[in-house]
Amino acid sequence: MRTIIEPFRIKSVEPLRRTTPEQRAAILARAGYNLFLIPAADILIDLLTDSGTSAMSTEQWAAMMRGDESYAGSESYFRLKHAVEELTGFRHVIPTHQGRAAERILFACLCREGQVVPNNTHFDTTRANIEFTRAQALDLPMKEAADTQSRLPFKGGMDVEALERTIGERGAGRIPLIMLTVTNNSGGGQPVSMANIEAVSGVARRQGIPFYLDACRFAENAWFIKEREDGYGSWTPREIARKMFSLADGCTFSAKKDAFANIGGLLCTNDDVLARQEKDLLILTEGFPTYGGLAGRDLDAIAVGLDEVLQPDYLEYRIASTGYLGRHIADRGVPIVEPPGGHAIYIDAGRMLPHIPKHEFPAQSLAVALYRHAGIRSVEIGSVMFGGHARNELLRLAIPRRVYTQSHIDYVVEAILEVNERKHELKGYEITRQPEFLRHFSCEFRPL
Ligand code: F0G
Repeated sequence: MRTIIEPFRIKSVEPLRRTTPEQRAAILARAGYNLFLIPAADILIDLLTDSGTSAMSTEQWAAMMRGDESYAGSESYFRLKHAVEELTGFRHVIPTHQGRAAERILFACLCREGQVVPNNTHFDTTRANIEFTRAQALDLPMKEAADTQSRLPFKGGMDVEALERTIGERGAGRIPLIMLTVTNNSGGGQPVSMANIEAVSGVARRQGIPFYLDACRFAENAWFIKEREDGYGSWTPREIARKMFSLADGCTFSAKKDAFANIGGLLCTNDDVLARQEKDLLILTEGFPTYGGLAGRDLDAIAVGLDEVLQPDYLEYRIASTGYLGRHIADRGVPIVEPPGGHAIYIDAGRMLPHIPKHEFPAQSLAVALYRHAGIRSVEIGSVMFGGHARNELLRLAIPRRVYTQSHIDYVVEAILEVNERKHELKGYEITRQPEFLRHFSCEFRPL
């Protein structure tokens, strides 16, 4: 059979709530045209993020009931620790309430003013947490990624020559760690090849610099390696993931992505001294090291999710369904970051709306138009989110795991194609109010 089906059936349903275009126009004005500020009840299809929005399985819900809520040394912690050790091989497994808490603790321990942390592309919380320590967050994406239209198998990697040049110029002593984000979220959800992970790991080891994975979407990355990289076709996703982790000295992880959990994160390391410092900081803000700000039941949900996410049926369906959305809009003239990524499709709004300049936020304009037209929430990943660091003006349609069916995706395709037909009518925006950090979450706009 050629048809790839959702590898699950639905046991519990949640109604979708419809609004009219007139209601949505009023909702947008009230929210200052920032889709983060719209109540979820007013959204029909929510593609804001794939983070914390997964549907949990019956096995995960069953595991929740086994959650041990002991403050210290709960059974849930040991089940999670076992699952993570078995997958990653890391010696220290520290739970946190989500990925950014792991980042905050890691960077607080390692980073100082005057230092620089290279990554293929930092996610916004990673960048903000590094900059908060007054170190510099440096993006070194591979050059081929600059062309959003080229269809290369692994556009998410790091420019290894640029990494070596940076180490030469700044000195290894001023680089507290090197990171690779798999898949490369801010770089279009593109995968990183095993060859690139090996090359970056090799440079880091030769220079004595710790190497960390930002492993949020490690399973999706592993599937791309299986499908696209020579020599891995017969490997299981788990074997590929194990090899990826074996090349690193530690990882940060948001369990809200590739663990199907609604909350949670991990900080892992092989460094005994660092782990002690991290646990001290953890106690200050997150909780005792065996629960890290989570309930015992959350730890159990993550442990089960880490196993389910590596099932080949699931990963085949997941990557195919993202590709389905991408191909159906791109083949009808909507420019996307090619080829389709793992968790999301990124529309190249700069290319789609050349009449709206960067400083008038073309991707924000498209996000507003798509919500007004069809009740779909997406997110700007461009000059609103990254200011002057933005390389492209992208609109991300992130697909929650196991939540929407093919007919939902067909509706999204139709809506995007209809907005594309009247794209010349879309106008730019200006920001009227903004906070100091991570402005995209709360700033307000005015249509021009
Ligand atoms: N790293 C990457 C690559 C991410 O995509 C995210 C979150 C984080 C770190 C932080 O994890 O949210 O658990 O604190 N990304 C979400 C997104 C929010 O929508 O892409 P967190």
